[in-house]
Amino acid sequence: EKGEFRHFMEKEIHEQPDSVRNTLTAYLDLVNARARPPEGLDFAEISRLQIVACGTAYYAGMIGRYAFERVAGLPCDVEIASEFRYRSPALMPGTLAVAVSQSGETADTLASLKWCKAEGFRTAAVVNVHSSSMAREADHLLPTHAGPEIGVASTKAFTAQVAALLALAVAAGVQRGRIDREEEARLVKALFEAPRLIAEALNMGHAIQSVVHDIARATDVLFLGRGAMFPLALEGALKLKEISYIHAEGYAAGELKHGPIALIDEATPVIALAPLDDVFEKTASNLQEVAARGGPVVMIAPEAAETPHGAAMTRIAAPDCDPLIAPLVYAVPMQLLAYYTAVQKGTDVDQPRNLAKSVTVE
Ligand code: M6R
Repeated sequence: EKGEFRHFMEKEIHEQPDSVRNTLTAYLDLVNARARPPEGLDFAEISRLQIVACGTAYYAGMIGRYAFERVAGLPCDVEIASEFRYRSPALMPGTLAVAVSQSGETADTLASLKWCKAEGFRTAAVVNVHSSSMAREADHLLPTHAGPEIGVASTKAFTAQVAALLALAVAAGVQRGRIDREEEARLVKALFEAPRLIAEALNMGHAIQSVVHDIARATDVLFLGRGAMFPLALEGALKLKEISYIHAEGYAAGELKHGPIALIDEATPVIALAPLDDVFEKTASNLQEVAARGGPVVMIAPEAAETPHGAAMTRIAAPDCDPLIAPLVYAVPMQLLAYYTAVQKGTDVDQPRNLAKSVTVE
């Protein structure tokens, strides 16, 4: 039941401190600050990851890729399942195929998993429904612990997928000898900061609501980010499209000048995800370019981050956090923005038009 909340989506957004903590606990041991690699899965025996997924799960996979390559030095490809399954992909020997799916039933993702298995590759499934077809099909079941997700627009299942992939990347880093004991402890502790910081991010609702009026009036909205914030920008745009029916696109901030900057005008809000990471300055200079062209910018960044010089923009303060967990923390304002915009527009938040919770047809 929805309890004190107006919609399942709102309830599920607020459940994320718990669902992320529960998922992390499956892969990490906080007491001893160690990774807990899944039984029977040794990432040192794997030379490459091939993640396949659809929709929001695909974006979670893209975020996972940044971590697997950076933390574990494990080459990682990510592909939309509906493309992967029909293009006869040439996978490298030693590839582990990883399906990411809330339901574990998405037709294209399941077919991709089966194809990899039939071709003789090892398979794993990061799934929220532990009795699903993908869970049964895969060699390794890698569960997320989000609990049942009712809202068609995925929220807590997404952050649980991201949490599982980040934790697995740490485990892979240990097994592959890429991180020492001290770094392992640091990363495990950083990941377990996520539930508290997600709870803090839930307090951003008020600030988010102050920009919703302008977003709800827009016909197009752009989301920008770099690094793991790029897939999160894609996710923010998808969420807004799904439940508020406003056209939105996510871009890698560095791609702006290769085309999309032509779209910038006073009527096109730009939502920028700008945690204090190693590409912050680059993102900030992209925002300056947008502001200089009259684009209304909403910059989501920690209080300590400087506003790009001479650029007028709305600032929304996000909790300061380790860059590793920024995708978990910044997911919350993306979800809240979509949620409050949909509420403002009066759309059916939990059952958006034309969408099904589980896409079991091709
Ligand atoms: O059950 P799955 O995670 O495999 O579903 C994949 C997509 O259909 C799903 O994420 C979809 O994009 C959601 N409506 C996103 O909110």
